[in-house]
Amino acid sequence: MISNTHNFPAKELKGQFPIFLKKIYGKPLTFLDTAASAQKPYSVIDEVKKCYSENYSNIHRGIYYLSSTLTKQYEDTRIKVSKFINSEDPSEIVFTKSATEALNLLATSLCKSYINDDDEIILSHLEHHANIVPWQIQKSNNIKLVISELKDNFSLDIDDLLSKITSKTKLISITHMSNSLGHITDIKKITSEANKKNIPVIVDGCQYIAHGKVDVKELGCDFYVFSGHKIYGPSGVGVLYGKKDWLNKLPPYQGGGDMIEKVSFEKTTFASAPQKFEAGTPPIAQVIGLGAAIDFVQDVGIEEIKSYEKFLYQHAYEKMNELPNVKIIGHSENKGAIISFTMNNAHPSDIATLFDQEGIAIRSGHHCTQPLMNKIGISQTARISFGLYNTMEDIDILIQSINKVNDFFK
Ligand code: ALA
Repeated sequence: MISNTHNFPAKELKGQFPIFLKKIYGKPLTFLDTAASAQKPYSVIDEVKKCYSENYSNIHRGIYYLSSTLTKQYEDTRIKVSKFINSEDPSEIVFTKSATEALNLLATSLCKSYINDDDEIILSHLEHHANIVPWQIQKSNNIKLVISELKDNFSLDIDDLLSKITSKTKLISITHMSNSLGHITDIKKITSEANKKNIPVIVDGCQYIAHGKVDVKELGCDFYVFSGHKIYGPSGVGVLYGKKDWLNKLPPYQGGGDMIEKVSFEKTTFASAPQKFEAGTPPIAQVIGLGAAIDFVQDVGIEEIKSYEKFLYQHAYEKMNELPNVKIIGHSENKGAIISFTMNNAHPSDIATLFDQEGIAIRSGHHCTQPLMNKIGISQTARISFGLYNTMEDIDILIQSINKVNDFFK
């Protein structure tokens, strides 16, 4: 029997998120869609506002007070991100506009310089479209995508993945936590084999980053990507971590201002990493907001968040599992706080619509994982996902609302 209480200060933390002052159709907001995008605390909103109202200017380009102050804050955020994920050096952190852009950067630069015709890239059935389509767009050079299988509970079958490594395997690109089902991948088990064979590993950490400690050295991966908006930061900023050797040898993804050393009409030489990958005016305020989000998460404590979200998951799982007509897709002990489910009597979009009437926000659909849905043999799920502001009362409202769906569609 799992305990009904946890000493995590979720209610107090909820008070730091102004969105929860809002009423939805006169009802309190029950936000169960953090996997799509997390809500923002005052500290992040205030820091972004301060950036625009007190410090704003372009960065890296002016020697005047505002520009040098903001440049320092931007570069300090790079140091903060580097420490947060324990990278060797801040120069291993590239800011992008999203994790999707980070994956497109890697696909483009790796395929231009390292991956050739007939080479193989291992992905999995769990991947988000953002870790499938960028590789397919590069497929003009006849790269073969090798897809690793899932176990019966739809978690990644790592033995199958490792068995698919051949002499043609040039890269493994894999999610750390499934955005659709919540399964967490044992990245170390993959990298310990891949490293022996000198096969680089990219980890899509979008879903994991706000729900557990990431230590890129311990994970042993070559690249790790995540987005700001999933870790209580602004949208419009992503992070690409790359081992220094890799970033030094990869060609730039986009050309423009601030990524060069010298430009002439005959020839251009590039700045060193990470500047080489940050062409044009970067997402300045978003990066600074991300810094505030990392401070916020670290103040709360990532291990405490992980433990609390596991507690929420277990309660929600146990209660939902007892309800008639509910089918939970893919339970396991090693999951983040995401539950995807279907109901025998209601389509996922009907569930989401009825939930909305109760002030509950969830996502329904294929969650940008159509190959996973095909593998499971369904087209959509209703998905609930928790963040650090969710409470046991939210689970009660969720259960009452599923009962209402059952009443409505009986
Ligand atoms: N990738 C986000 C999700 O899973 C948008 O909903």
